[in-house]
Amino acid sequence: MNAAQSPVTSEGAAAAAMVPSRQHAHRATTDPATPARVPLLDVRDLHVQFQTRTGVARVLDGVSLHVDRGETLGIVGESGSGKSVFFLALLGILEANARITSGSARFGGFDLLGSSEAERSSVRGRELAMVFQNPRAALNPIRRVGQQIEDVLLRHTATPRHALQARAVDALRRVQIADPEARYHAYPFELSGGQCQRVMIAMALACEPALLIADEPTTGLDVTTQAAIMALIARIARENGMATILVTHDLGLAGEHCDRIAVMHAGHLVEMAPAAELFARPRHPYTARLLASTPYGALSIDALTSVPGQLPDLTRTDLPPCRFSERCDRVLPACAGPRVMQDTGEGHHVACHNPC
Ligand SMILES: Nc1ncnc2c1ncn2[C@@H]1O[C@H](COP(=O)(O)OP(=O)(O)O)[C@@H](O)[C@H]1O
Ligand code: SF4
Ligand SMILES: [Mg+2]
Repeated sequence: MNAAQSPVTSEGAAAAAMVPSRQHAHRATTDPATPARVPLLDVRDLHVQFQTRTGVARVLDGVSLHVDRGETLGIVGESGSGKSVFFLALLGILEANARITSGSARFGGFDLLGSSEAERSSVRGRELAMVFQNPRAALNPIRRVGQQIEDVLLRHTATPRHALQARAVDALRRVQIADPEARYHAYPFELSGGQCQRVMIAMALACEPALLIADEPTTGLDVTTQAAIMALIARIARENGMATILVTHDLGLAGEHCDRIAVMHAGHLVEMAPAAELFARPRHPYTARLLASTPYGALSIDALTSVPGQLPDLTRTDLPPCRFSERCDRVLPACAGPRVMQDTGEGHHVACHNPC
């Protein structure tokens, strides 16, 4: 192993912590001499398993990543690669058959995995908020949307009761919902999909979180609404200095809106780089196939046909160290050895023995 290599499960995150924050993300290089700042979110070596009828599925296998204050990080990967499970684990809302078997996650100094549910729920929604795909399902169908925003304010802020309605209307105004005073009284079924997503974003942002996790926030919305929602998140992030994690299967969307992009495959983080660098020089064979398979600008992973094979069955007991190896045309004997995360410079990290 050369000096630029480190085991994925231990020093990968530390190396990645040297990637600059948003203010500096477009600098040409990452100066290795720059001391690593303390990231806002710092996840190391996260392992999550699910007990299933056919065995134990090792759904996350040593994922490490960090996010700096004010930065926008994109997480991309095929459906089933573990993107949502990663964030549900951080928020402590995994399903009952899941188990976090090892790893650590610090959010602004707070120990996300080692805290009680009461401590975690006070951070969740206040400093760390998440919006999901399918906002209509996430909203309470029998409660007016304004009241749902008030519920968040009551739970997480010291807003006096007499000021709640005005703050909820303000929150709707900030997400550019037309006629917010009237919409305050609406039920979710009276709103369009785009308006429901705006309400979800208003709820998520009501407490001015330091980090917004947006998991496929525009999937299912029409193209114009998608663009408006993404512009809205970007504007509020800029105004508040809020960090954003955009989870998406849409590489084009991630390229357009993110400072850095992390690529996941079958429960592994396989590559991470500044967005422009990743598009210009993909190093992991999986990323290269993703990028090569459709023209730039129309990079929906759903539309991909040329990444050969499928994600492996994660309940297999004979999964190879590189879970892409059975789909890869660059295999070397070394690929059967332990995974490595190489720092190739330019803030670019790749977990591969034979990068492109
Ligand atoms: N409750 C569960 N029980 C068993 N497997 C699960 C459960 N939830 C998720 N998984 C599995 O975890 C893997 C990752 O899922 P997910 O994080 O939702 O993928 P992504 O968000 O990248 O599309 C998938 O193989 C999925 O089938
Ligand atoms: S480690 Fe080997 S098998 Fe895995 S992606 Fe790299 S070249 Fe392919
Ligand atoms: Mg998902």
